[in-house]
Amino acid sequence: MSDFAARLLAWFDLHGRHDLPWQHPRTPYRVWVAEVMLQQTRVRTAIGYFDAFLTRFPEPAVLAAAPLDAVLAVWSGLGYYARARNLHRAAQIVVRDHGGELPERIESLARLPGVGRSTAGAILAQAHGQRHPILDGNARRVLARHAAVAGDPAAPAVQRRLWELSAERLPQARLADYTQALMDLGAGVCIRARPSCAGCPLRDDCLALAQERVHELPTPRTPRSRPLRRTAMLLARDATGRVLLQRRPPTGVWPDLWSLPEGADIAALAGAVPVVLDRCARTRIRHQFTHFTLEIDVHRACAVAGVEPVGDADSRWFTPDAARALGLPQPVRRLLDEVHGHGAQADRPQIDGHGGQGHRLPCAAQNHMVRRFAQPETGT
Ligand code: ADE
Repeated sequence: MSDFAARLLAWFDLHGRHDLPWQHPRTPYRVWVAEVMLQQTRVRTAIGYFDAFLTRFPEPAVLAAAPLDAVLAVWSGLGYYARARNLHRAAQIVVRDHGGELPERIESLARLPGVGRSTAGAILAQAHGQRHPILDGNARRVLARHAAVAGDPAAPAVQRRLWELSAERLPQARLADYTQALMDLGAGVCIRARPSCAGCPLRDDCLALAQERVHELPTPRTPRSRPLRRTAMLLARDATGRVLLQRRPPTGVWPDLWSLPEGADIAALAGAVPVVLDRCARTRIRHQFTHFTLEIDVHRACAVAGVEPVGDADSRWFTPDAARALGLPQPVRRLLDEVHGHGAQADRPQIDGHGGQGHRLPCAAQNHMVRRFAQPETGT
């Protein structure tokens, strides 16, 4: 066993996480679901969702047979819904091609939607004790600092070097613990800002520490410039507090999620909803996507009492609780939490400091106006 791994394992025995829900029992399916959740979510947040997900979908066959809507609903609040869609599709492949069991060969596992080489390695190491390297964000930080690997982490040469290091450091035994240990060290000790080097089991031969380069390694990614796109959304509520939502199409941004009616501007929104609306106030929010920034003008309005939208399956009024149980885009969830009193500052249109992906811009134009911008649907 390499000295690196021996020290990491000794540290893990004392300080690592041994009571995560997917460790008891550590089945391939449970570890897979956890690893996909943890791709973009912290452990503390993921735990609650993990238990709910496993209760509703206890095995791949149940997940595969469930409607996508049910999967998105259980995922609701975690964000990055592509992960839920991929889990669902992958479960169907597992049932169709692998007899309902997650493949044990890394090549097959890494080919499943949403898995990839590092997640596949993490699953097989934890669930079967197989000997595979991982290179998620935590492992990358630990390895890059310990061996002082500089350079754009997306560059192929840097990636190659870090994968090599990850493979070279592997012990011959205790692969499940070792893999968890590497992630735990990166998540709790070798953190990006202000790492706790004094408590690190790898400090004696950490090159970044010796060279006083801990804070510059790993080299930060070159920030990308994101083009700005604009859209408008309608946050319409009726007299009982229900909100009008529309299901998004299966392609494009936020596929299949329920969202606020959307259009290029207020005029387009007017044609999009079959209700009479009153009292409009506008707020502007921003949401970051990987490749662009979306600026959303949110037009708030009240529906004139007694007017229902047409019986369109993809356009419905939802109570606050029913809406919260749906798969919703992150900024829409935040808006609904505010107006329904779940955010810190309910029903106030200008709020800063959301954190996460979205934030508000100061919006001078709280143009309270009385206007009708949609005609009532008559007839049925
Ligand atoms: N990040 C990804 N997988 C993880 C795990 N199993 N434990 C903690 N953090 C993780």
